[in-house]
Parts: sequence; structure tokens; C-alpha cells
Amino acid sequence: MTVVFLPDRRTIAVEPGTPLLRAAQSQGIEITATCGGRGRCTSCRVKFVEGLVPPPAINDALQLGDDLVREGYRLACQTTVAEAATVQVAPPLDETAFQILGVERDAVARAHVVMDAGVRKRCVRVDLPREEHHQTSDVEQVGRATGVRPEDIPLDLLRTLPGILREAKGEVTVATFHDALLAVERGDTTAMAFGIAIDVGTTSVVTTLLELASGEVMASVQSLNPQATFGGDLMSRIAFAQWNSQNLRRLQSRVLGLLNQQIDEVLERAGVLPHWVYKVTVVGNTCMHHVLLGIDPTYVGLAPYTAVLRHALVLPARALHLKVNPEARLCLLPLVAGFVGADAVAATLATRLYEGDRVRAVVDIGTNGEVVMGTGARLMACSAPAGPALEGGQVRHGMRGAVGAIDRAWLEDGDLRLHVIGEGAPQGICGSGLIDAVAVALDAGLVDWTGLILVDARERLPRALAQRIEMRGEERVLILVPRGEAGGEIVLSQDDVRQIQLAKGAIASGIRMLQHVLRIPDAELAELMLAGGFGNYLSIRSALRIGLIPPLPGERIRYVGNAAALGAQLALVSEPERERAERLARSIEHVSLATHPDFQDLFVEAMNFPGA
Ligand code: FES
Repeated sequence: MTVVFLPDRRTIAVEPGTPLLRAAQSQGIEITATCGGRGRCTSCRVKFVEGLVPPPAINDALQLGDDLVREGYRLACQTTVAEAATVQVAPPLDETAFQILGVERDAVARAHVVMDAGVRKRCVRVDLPREEHHQTSDVEQVGRATGVRPEDIPLDLLRTLPGILREAKGEVTVATFHDALLAVERGDTTAMAFGIAIDVGTTSVVTTLLELASGEVMASVQSLNPQATFGGDLMSRIAFAQWNSQNLRRLQSRVLGLLNQQIDEVLERAGVLPHWVYKVTVVGNTCMHHVLLGIDPTYVGLAPYTAVLRHALVLPARALHLKVNPEARLCLLPLVAGFVGADAVAATLATRLYEGDRVRAVVDIGTNGEVVMGTGARLMACSAPAGPALEGGQVRHGMRGAVGAIDRAWLEDGDLRLHVIGEGAPQGICGSGLIDAVAVALDAGLVDWTGLILVDARERLPRALAQRIEMRGEERVLILVPRGEAGGEIVLSQDDVRQIQLAKGAIASGIRMLQHVLRIPDAELAELMLAGGFGNYLSIRSALRIGLIPPLPGERIRYVGNAAALGAQLALVSEPERERAERLARSIEHVSLATHPDFQDLFVEAMNFPGA
């Protein structure tokens, strides 16, 4: 039978029994599937506008609520159709103003690294042959003037070389990266040398243009990773890539398309021409790294979680069709092992975790959390698959930190108070709001240490708070925004609290595991740095209250911004830093949580909330 998808009015044939989401995606209709089609979010919702509305699945009612189900909304991943229908794909939330953390503009300059990007530009005079009997070639003449071996000159450069040499009457600027010739340009362009640092995160992508000689940040842009349409976390994306052979290409072209958009944008903002960009550094976790290169990540997702490659790569930018100088060197930083990728290496580089003898840790809180801990003598890392719950995914009224998101919560005058980004009507709740809300619920006795919403304790609570918890059928809910008050109702369901417990348990047990392996009690953990696109928006007090991080005194916890993006920038402007990243990747010891015999116990303990 056929199904028409609005607003594009695309009609596709759907086999009976095939979930709508799968049928749509296999035929190129884009429906966001943050939870990877597991019925745990609402991103794939469609509304039946014509035809028989199929009976709701359990997850339809659970995630969408009875009102939306009555109005004909269904989760595309849970729905099969029995006859022709027309459905409206739910418009995405307005995410134009969401929060993704970048790097402070002068962070590179403040890092005091050796400024040597490996890119050299110099003016040379190439003598052009004047007489026929002069047995030579353009390439040999360039070789004589620059010392570059003729066989090291790339084919694309050979194609443009004769014209440039003659138009410029032999007065040219050559750009090299170590021994490789990258460009021959007319006249003196020595002042124009730029590079781009890219942090490809599971959820967001940050691209920054820098001047190579000074390390000055010229422009930076941040966007959501468009692969999220095919799954919010790494495992969902790996599963999507396994569906059919086209899907890996789709994931790759999604992210490459975004990178080229971001590159266009930073170049335009700074007034820099694409061919003046000679070096690009990229960091990302193992899965993002592989997909960017078009390498099948299947075995990264299966025990024993083996990467296809871990070493640093240097490729010409044309290999990935990046819209910079085609000969620019694209430097992918090395990976550690398992899911711990170049982003963890870059964060280690940026936070100087490898210096000193006090044990410090950097915790990248994101969909794929990463923890690196240790001293100059020994560093250990693990990946903590938190999933998207801490970023508002897989939570009934969760959303990203965009306009309309509740981003903070606190107790005041015996009731719960909320702050909404943009100060307007609340549309949902983002990660920092969720963590605050749970912390407040714990403080107020609305939720106990096991995560149970304490509906039975209502009589003991002040009236305002008591009204916020109730049973809905079998389900316990905590009402954050009552129905009718400036828009729809926003609740935290029992299941939402469990999702947050799972996510915070993953991060907390990752930290605990490294402490356990290194035998470091809290008292000896000198510093805990919170990094990642999410880190700075998080209240440290709430993170401590829910047990996301160990109970250290406040002065030992600090935000460090997007450390992975900063590490990519350091490796961009400094070859010694890029080399250091290679040494670090080889020396960091990977701790696999899944196979460690003590992990289950640590995880179960980390799922609970600390006592008051
Ligand atoms: S509920 Fe369908 S993709 Fe999440």
C-alpha cells in the first residue's frame, strides 16, 4: 500500500508489517530518529491526516501521551500501516539557538605552545626557460627554486602550473607542509596561511578557522551533528550503518556536507579564500572518525570493540572533498582504543593532563562520555556510553538547550522554580534542567535515593510540592509545568528518572572505574575537569547532588569548555603538539568497562543517588 508523507507529498510503497520509519528512511524520506527507532523518544512522531489511524503501540501512549495519540500522532518507528494513508512528519523543534560549547577566542594563544603548523609559505623566483635548446621543464625549474622533488608535485598542481608561472612571470609563492608542495600561487601571498580545526562530536560539530602563524581564531561555528537523524547515540548509528550498504554512505555524506557548510561559513565570515587553507585537523570518537572516512564501524560496536585503525592519518583534503585547498593536509589525530578516540586525546592535550604528579581527570560529558585520568607517569581512559538522556534525548519532554527549554530548576518558598531559555513559554527540558530538576526533587523528598518518585509521601510534603507528584494509571510522574500554564504540561516520568540514572550511572561509574584501577580515593583526586559541549551549562552543585561526579570539594572541580575542540586547534597551529598527541594516544591505557569484572557492581552503585 502507499503512504504519502507531508509536507513534501512524497508517496512511497510500504510493505505490510514494515515500520513506517524504516520504510521512509530506506526511500530517502528524512525522519529524525534520536533513539534509533527504539520507541524511547518522540523525534520520529508523525500525524495521520488521512486514512485509518493504526491502533497505538504501548510506546505511542507512553511517549506521546493520550492527548496526542487521540489526535492521530504515532511514533513512526513503532507504527505499521494496514491501508493507504497520509501522514505529516512532525516539524523539528526550533533549535536555532541551542547551546553548544565552543572554545574561548584566545585559548590557543594562552596555551603557550610552540607555534609551528608545519606549513611554510615563501616567495621564490622560478626561472622560465627562454631558449628551445634549454632542456628542462616547468617542474624541474620549480624544483630548482624550491628544493621540492619533481615527483612530489601533485597532478592537480601540474595542471595549473604552466599558466601560473607565466602569468606571474616566475614570481610566485610556494606553500609546503613539511616536504610536500601544496600550492604555487601568483605573486606574494605569504601573509595568507590559515587552518581549520574540527571537532566531530556525536551530537555536535564545532569548526574553527585560525590564522596559522599567530593562532588567532578568525571564526568559529557550531551545529548539531546531522547524523542524529539516524540515531542519537553511537550504537544506534552503527546499527543504522549495518542496515544496508547505502547507509554508511548516507552517514558519511551527512557529516561531510555539514563540514563543508561550516567551512564555507567560517571562510565567508573571516573573508578568507578556500585555497589559503593549507591544514585541517579533525578529532572525534572512534565511530565518528571511521564514519567520516567512510570506514565501516560495525566491529567498533561489537565486543571486543576493535577499531579498524588507530594511528594518525595525514591525507590531502581532496580525499574527503573538503572545500579548502585540495592539497591542504587533513590531519586526523590518532585514536586510543575501543570508543575512546581522538577527542579524548585532544582533551588530554588541551588540559595538560599529562603534566605533573597529582592525579587529575577530565570528564567529557556527552552522548558518548569519556573519562581520562592520571598523571604525567600514567594515564588511563574509558568511554562511558551515557546516551542522549543528559542532553535531553530519550526523555519524554526532553529537548536540546534551545529557546523554550527549561535549563535550570531550584527550590524557593517551598516550591519548585524553573528558568526557561529565552524567558518565554517552556516547551521542554534540556540536560542541565533535567539534572537540576532531579537534584531539587531529591532535596525536596519528591524522589528517593533509588530514584523512585515518592507519590506515597505526599502527605508529608508542603502543599505546593505535594501537588507536583501523582500516579497516572501505573505511572508515577513529577509535574514540572502543569497543563494550561503557558502551554502544554511538562512532566518528568518515572521512566525519565530511570533514563537519567542510567546516563549519570554510566559517567559516574566510568570515573569510579578509573579511580578503582588507579587506586585513587576521592581525597587523592586533585582536580576534576568538566569538558564537552554540555559541561559548562551544568550546575556543579546539582551534578554533585545526583552523584554524576564524585563528592569532591567545589574548588577541585572546574569547567574547561570544549577541550576536544581546543586540542584540535593546538594540533593545528603546532606540529610539536600534534606529535605529542601521537605519543599520548600510544601511552594512554584503555580500560574497557564492559569486560572489567568489577564494572557491574560499580555501575549498579553509581545508578543510585547519594543520600542527602
Ligand atoms: S521513538 Fe521513534 S525514533 Fe525514537
